[in-house]
Amino acid sequence: MRVAKEDLTKLIQTKLHRAGLTEEHAGIVADVLVFADAKGIHSHGAMRVEYYAERIAKKGITHNPEFRLEKTGPCTAIFHGDNGSGHVAAKLAMDEAIKIAKENGVAVVGMKKVSHSGAISYFTEMAAQNDLVGFSVCQSDPMVVPFGGAEPYYGTNPLAFAAPGNDGKMISFDMATTVQAWGKILHARSKHESIPDTWAVDENGEATTDPHKVRALLPISGPKGYGLMMMVDVLSGILLGLPFGNKVSSMYNDLSEGRDLGQLHIVINPDAFSSVQMFKDNITQTMKDLNGIKPAKGFDKVLYPGQNYDAVAEEYEENGIEIVDDIYNYLVSDVIHNDAYDHQDAFVD
Ligand code: NAI
Repeated sequence: MRVAKEDLTKLIQTKLHRAGLTEEHAGIVADVLVFADAKGIHSHGAMRVEYYAERIAKKGITHNPEFRLEKTGPCTAIFHGDNGSGHVAAKLAMDEAIKIAKENGVAVVGMKKVSHSGAISYFTEMAAQNDLVGFSVCQSDPMVVPFGGAEPYYGTNPLAFAAPGNDGKMISFDMATTVQAWGKILHARSKHESIPDTWAVDENGEATTDPHKVRALLPISGPKGYGLMMMVDVLSGILLGLPFGNKVSSMYNDLSEGRDLGQLHIVINPDAFSSVQMFKDNITQTMKDLNGIKPAKGFDKVLYPGQNYDAVAEEYEENGIEIVDDIYNYLVSDVIHNDAYDHQDAFVD
């Protein structure tokens, strides 16, 4: 099913508003989800709406949160999220980080007590659109085997980075520290597809290609990915005095409770180090350099991070965004949610 970007945004906004979010907050969440779908990152797009709608309806996401910004220094602040929508909190916190970095050269803004915020490059790209470098990390529920371990401890703990070039172009790097994001397993389930045997393990800790049998995910590159997910948890959890490691709340444990998650934005103004124009010229040059590197066998071209989404984004812009039929049917229906997620074992579907 193909849906025009504006229509998909409106459908998601309407559903989340009917679930209980204010129209404004529902619009922001819809924007973040469609940002992901429009690039082909379907794991963090419309397929999450029913889960959010259920959590909102059960008040596990505060409908009208009392957001509060606490300045803790010239360059630092804490954004208190009141367990409102993570997408909205992370966007507003990035607005503040951009202001601080414009004035003071750098900003570090931590978010306390937020809910899931989706594809976090949405927020780092906001910084790049303002001629700043953006970096963001956030916690996610424990479902990853640490290197050498047989039980989950960390989450898929993503990190994102964006740097502006000229003509509105940017490098945008955004990844889960697992071989694949959990949403990619969900997407494979929804499309009834198998997964590569390098993504996850089954109940015996053995590699599986069946997304329905997944019981834990694997970190990227063994101990190195494990170290990165540890770093993300320290910066977005321990640093902010929040639950950390396997104490981080589950996405599905109790949908009437707030998730108390943490996220951290770091924004750097290139003017504090060289000049914005020189920085943008050199980012543009590095993008060209990368595109000019001789491709290895099996590759047409070396792409810079984020460029891999361009072809899909252009095609979707022309022909509409591809949405799984079941998800579209849910979006256009009167159903708010089907009570499908509460107290679900994340791994069992
Ligand atoms: P991915 O593996 O699809 O891509 C990772 C990075 O590699 C991207 O920056 C992409 O542009 C780059 N890349 C991929 N192919 C490339 C190529 N051929 N050439 C150059 N660069 C290339 O992303 P992943 O790890 O599956 O994450 C998907 C999304 O899930 C992200 O937006 C992330 O923020 C989100 N996520 C959110 C979580 C949350 O709790 N909020 C938890 C985990 C992930």
